[in-house]
Amino acid sequence: MELFNVYPLFDITIEKGQGCNVWDDQGQQYLDLYGGHAVISIGHSHPHYVEAMTRQLNKLGFYSNSVQNPLQRELAHRLGKACGYEDYQLFLINSGAEANENALKLSSFYNGRTRVLSLEKAFHGRTSLAVEATNNPKIIAPINQNGHVTYLPLNDLQAWREELEKGDVCAVIIECIQGVGGIRLATAEFMQGLRSLCDQTDTVLICDEIQCGYGRSGKFFAHQHLGIQPDIITVAKGICNGFPMGGVLISPKFQAVYGQLGTTFGGNHLGCAGAIAVLDVIEQEHLVENAATVGQYLIDTLQTEMQAGRLPHVVDVRGRGLMIGIELDIPYKEPRTRLIKEQHCFTGCSGTNVIRLLPPLCLTLQQAEDFIQRFKTILQS
Ligand SMILES: Cc1ncc(COP(=O)(O)O)c(C=O)c1O
Repeated sequence: MELFNVYPLFDITIEKGQGCNVWDDQGQQYLDLYGGHAVISIGHSHPHYVEAMTRQLNKLGFYSNSVQNPLQRELAHRLGKACGYEDYQLFLINSGAEANENALKLSSFYNGRTRVLSLEKAFHGRTSLAVEATNNPKIIAPINQNGHVTYLPLNDLQAWREELEKGDVCAVIIECIQGVGGIRLATAEFMQGLRSLCDQTDTVLICDEIQCGYGRSGKFFAHQHLGIQPDIITVAKGICNGFPMGGVLISPKFQAVYGQLGTTFGGNHLGCAGAIAVLDVIEQEHLVENAATVGQYLIDTLQTEMQAGRLPHVVDVRGRGLMIGIELDIPYKEPRTRLIKEQHCFTGCSGTNVIRLLPPLCLTLQQAEDFIQRFKTILQS
């Protein structure tokens, strides 16, 4: 059998990782400013994480959601404390798309409505409702086109007010820092306006923190820079440092009903042990603070270099913490590929001309400086 060929691949086989570095099967080392698509939060193969996962696997990898699983409770307790939402409830699932799927479903159970408002350029996943809320016609199959979603411009509160005041919107789903959309930031004024419009119209406010959350923005959640509290927060990617897991954080105004949501694999013992170990490392190594410091250094230095004309083709640098977009006046393809091939450095990308930095949250100032030098070398030659 052949693989279903949906991924355009680099001709590189990554075999090993440690911290912010990965190695290919030829022994070549790469600096990883991509984190396997924002997934590696605490660094590749962190020893505490490896030890916790190994210990749990030797004990019990999986049992179903029909019996008590104290690890789920411990994770909920630890996550509530780490992010400051101790009064919220946690539903565990396996991926980002599934987290959004369940968030939207729960919203519809809550207020009985079926309309969703989403952002232009939004990305929320590739399954049913999640893909419908994703503003990319190329990945929405006819079966997903069910007319539930209206896409509106970022930070244009008046456009959102007009739709919300119709009183028929089930949920608003928003990335406070758009990832796939090209590192575009919601403003505090916009999010606070949306929060009060959602309150006035009994609309559920969902923040998709799958990419921008879990410490990446320099606060635990990106929306915490903007002075609002969503009704539902979705997480995945960094939660278990690469082991598939997602979560839905649900405000106390929602009451759980037996059987309304469910999953076979979600919240399994192995994943919970890994996710608890991730929180241990985030706390012990002050990774949220590190993301803020190193991210600000990267943004400031890249902006200074751009303004001084030392980064040809760079026209904008934006972001928060370790979620950074570098906009070019040329397609990203050639510089990104040369960064990998010539400078042995992985980065992400968005659209046609944005290089996206999504490194592990343990990136050091020295590694940040190292990246800037490699990037300069590529752009200047
Ligand atoms: C903001 C956002 N939401 C949802 C998803 C979907 O997550 P998954 O690929 O785990 O289904 C992604 C993935 O890139 C994402 O960036």
